[in-house]
Amino acid sequence: MFIDEKTEFIQSPLNYTGGKYKLLQQILPLFPKDIDIFVDLFCGGCNVGINVQSEKVILNDINKNLIKLFETFQSLGEKTFDLIDEIILEYDLSQSAQYGFGYYHTTGTRGLSFYNKDKYLKLRNDFNNAKVKDTKYYIMLYVLIVYAFNNQIRFNRQGEFNLPAGKRDFNNSIRQKLRRFIEAPAWGKCEFSSYDFRNFDISRLTKDSLVYVDPPYLITCASYTEKGGWGSRDELDLLKFLDKLQNKGIRFALSNVLRCKGQENIILSEWLADNADKYKIINLKSNYNYASYSTKFKKFVTKEILVLNY
Ligand SMILES: C[S@@+](CC[C@H](N)C(=O)[O-])C[C@H]1O[C@@H](n2cnc3c(N)ncnc32)[C@H](O)[C@@H]1O
Repeated sequence: MFIDEKTEFIQSPLNYTGGKYKLLQQILPLFPKDIDIFVDLFCGGCNVGINVQSEKVILNDINKNLIKLFETFQSLGEKTFDLIDEIILEYDLSQSAQYGFGYYHTTGTRGLSFYNKDKYLKLRNDFNNAKVKDTKYYIMLYVLIVYAFNNQIRFNRQGEFNLPAGKRDFNNSIRQKLRRFIEAPAWGKCEFSSYDFRNFDISRLTKDSLVYVDPPYLITCASYTEKGGWGSRDELDLLKFLDKLQNKGIRFALSNVLRCKGQENIILSEWLADNADKYKIINLKSNYNYASYSTKFKKFVTKEILVLNY
């Protein structure tokens, strides 16, 4: 794949926390050509997997709801849009693309949360109490994500989606993102799985495969999954998993940050120092936008890296 500054990558239709869309320009040229199986082991919003050229792409994430949602998009194809529109109508959620913000007595800056609040909560309640997890259930989840605060996916310990309504709705920009994603030639042939990385079966991978690894970062505090965060035990197990790939001659690329908000990931630094002869560190220009952080963090440098064993 030829990549220059004009290349338009496909963007996830989920504004995924920690999504790598803005780093694709730097990351993709570092991937080898001629990959037989590409594994996006922590696929999240799939920003990376969807843009890779490979004979086979496997998208894995521990978040089962997320994987089921992607499978639903894949099986429904174009019909996804009909179902989304039906749910929006059924719950009387805003359609700013059609009617404009004035119709809802608001502005783009103020957003639509006031108008959508009760309708969104009804949808959220029906979703959380649904008895069958069918196609409609997963598209309800997508509508919830689109209308949720900051478009996030968050479940509480009881497994209930628990975000409040956000400012936005299913506007033309997100509709367009979803369309490009579903229509991407690579999308139709992606395979899905939902394993903890420790249980992912690597026996079918070969020396021509590439495992892309983008775990939650140990030294940031984002909560991606429904239960619990990412701790030192996970980090150590992941590094062991990467060593196993190395021992089997399977290529990997690991995204991470070594320093962030004044903290350092010591576990990762030490592992990199111990394996300096085997693993290559590529420094990337940071993806992080500090606008939402307090100024006290702005002085700290985020060192975003890609670690390669090839
Ligand atoms: C940084 S995000 C990936 C973002 C993705 N690369 C993108 O561009 O959209 C990390 C993902 O790891 C998943 N995850 C967390 N713990 C995991 C585990 N033990 N095994 C597999 N996936 C896990 C989370 O659900 C989350 O989706």
